[in-house]
Amino acid sequence: MSAGTPLSASGGPSAAAAEEALEPCAMVIFGASGDLTHRMLLPALYNLALDRRLPPRFAVVGFARSDWTDDEFRRRARQSVQQFSRRPVDDAVWESFANSLFFVSGEYHQPQAHARLAALLKKVEKERGTGGNHLYYLALPPTTFPLIIGGLQKTGGIGRDHQRDGWARVIVEKPFGADLESARELNRQVHNAFREDDVYRIDHYLGKETVQNILVFRFANGIFEPIWNRRYVDHVQITVAESIGVGQRGSYYDATGALRDIVQNHMLQLLSLVAMEPPIAFNGRAVRNEKVKVLHAVRHLAGEEVDAATARGQYARGWISGQEVPGYREEDNVSPHSATETFVALRLFVDSWRWADVPFYLRTGKRLPKRSTEIAVQFKRAPHLLFRDIADVSAMEPNFLTIRIQPNEGISIKFLTKVPGSPVRIRPANMDFIYGASFLVQAPSAYETLILDALRGDATLFTRADEVEAAWSIMAGVLERWQSAPPPAFPDYEAGTWGPAGADALVERDGREWRRL
Ligand code: NDP
Ligand code: BG6
Repeated sequence: MSAGTPLSASGGPSAAAAEEALEPCAMVIFGASGDLTHRMLLPALYNLALDRRLPPRFAVVGFARSDWTDDEFRRRARQSVQQFSRRPVDDAVWESFANSLFFVSGEYHQPQAHARLAALLKKVEKERGTGGNHLYYLALPPTTFPLIIGGLQKTGGIGRDHQRDGWARVIVEKPFGADLESARELNRQVHNAFREDDVYRIDHYLGKETVQNILVFRFANGIFEPIWNRRYVDHVQITVAESIGVGQRGSYYDATGALRDIVQNHMLQLLSLVAMEPPIAFNGRAVRNEKVKVLHAVRHLAGEEVDAATARGQYARGWISGQEVPGYREEDNVSPHSATETFVALRLFVDSWRWADVPFYLRTGKRLPKRSTEIAVQFKRAPHLLFRDIADVSAMEPNFLTIRIQPNEGISIKFLTKVPGSPVRIRPANMDFIYGASFLVQAPSAYETLILDALRGDATLFTRADEVEAAWSIMAGVLERWQSAPPPAFPDYEAGTWGPAGADALVERDGREWRRL
């Protein structure tokens, strides 16, 4: 695999050949006037066009209530690309890409709007040779999904004869449900219309290069797997720290909170990749089977256990990088009395032969001092402290293996070494692999990788129905306890600090501490 080549079951050296074979397709984005389309999807599609990775016969049809024409959609798409593309706009590539963009305006529940969409798809099929294959992207609030799926079923957009009429796949954005019940219901609704193999539940963390590299790191090397277990690992810390607040997404976030927004999806995905057994093959089924097993092995928390194993917080006004920032309750579209958590820390156990009694500490928060996502595996100390009489034992930090997901993507191993000279002094040192220094190519964005995989029909990096339900079932006891407890004393951490005191207490009770990032 060359650097920068996305890792998916169809990736690798044959990826270029696979791209040539990409089937024609029309991609329909529902919610095409929204933030996700603007900041992520259009720039990702443009970058795929720039790399000639889109199918040769391809079109994008935006659908939303906004009263836009094709030209308006194209004009706004250019703005999106100018503002958010990882590479500058090339006019020739842009022109050809822009010609593949179309727009349908209408209400999601209106049969006439779906009829207009169906007519446009027929026209596009004829003019651009997209061959009747449709990739639907649900980039809008989940309340609209049943209306959209119902409309597509009625106009023959799905549920057709695959051999004769082409395929229909659907990409569903996160959060997939708000709890176990609603996720099950959403799965039922989606399965009414699509086969599970055609459903691509997106978690953009799985499209990140460094997240995909966890599998390569663990299973392409022989030296790490033998120590990747309870005999050698003391505990694992997974951190998703953000310095940003909730921005323009206040109303979404206030109804969601950090547990549902980040822990249930991104963090449990990281945990399952770190803790999974080696899959028997590198394909969507085998990899996801192993990930699901980890989620099923995570011990559920309930009642008072939740109080001991979790901490939540909400940021107050504070300072980040020399700038004063508002408290969460002062953000746009957030209730001034909000009890929504913007920080979560929790301790989980994976009850398996490999991980019995090894704590996995997870923490995530908004308005923390810096943006940093990492997985740190702390190893047990050497069994016999040979140097205790001649060296300062307190300087003898444990070994850490750290996978930095972002920024400064890379992997570090911390080990003890002798300071030159005498007497013997021992200090920690780092062995560092830094992506940017080792590979000179720029990695594709997560959305580029994931859209390309959905076009290929490779679901390895997408979340399966049972996986998403298993993840929600881990959260169920916590959500229930938090809901029934009296409102927490929020806000309880200043923006620009590392979260509430309860987060420190959580690890300190176990005689451990959070890594300083
Ligand atoms: P938006 O709130 O921007 O909504 C997208 C579009 O959907 C809007 O432009 C609007 O278009 C339409 N819409 C919004 N609310 C409703 C409604 N109640 N009923 C019908 N149509 C509505 O969402 P985002 O683009 O931010 O997110 C889309 C999806 O992606 C969501 O599921 C979100 O959770 C997920 N997501 C978003 C991320 C982001 O960074 N934005 C990150 C990760 C996931 P119109 O009025 O023109 O019909
Ligand atoms: C999204 C969350 O899924 O992930 C956001 O909804 C969060 O709240 C974002 O900011 C973080 O993604 P990244 O790629 O910036 O780590």
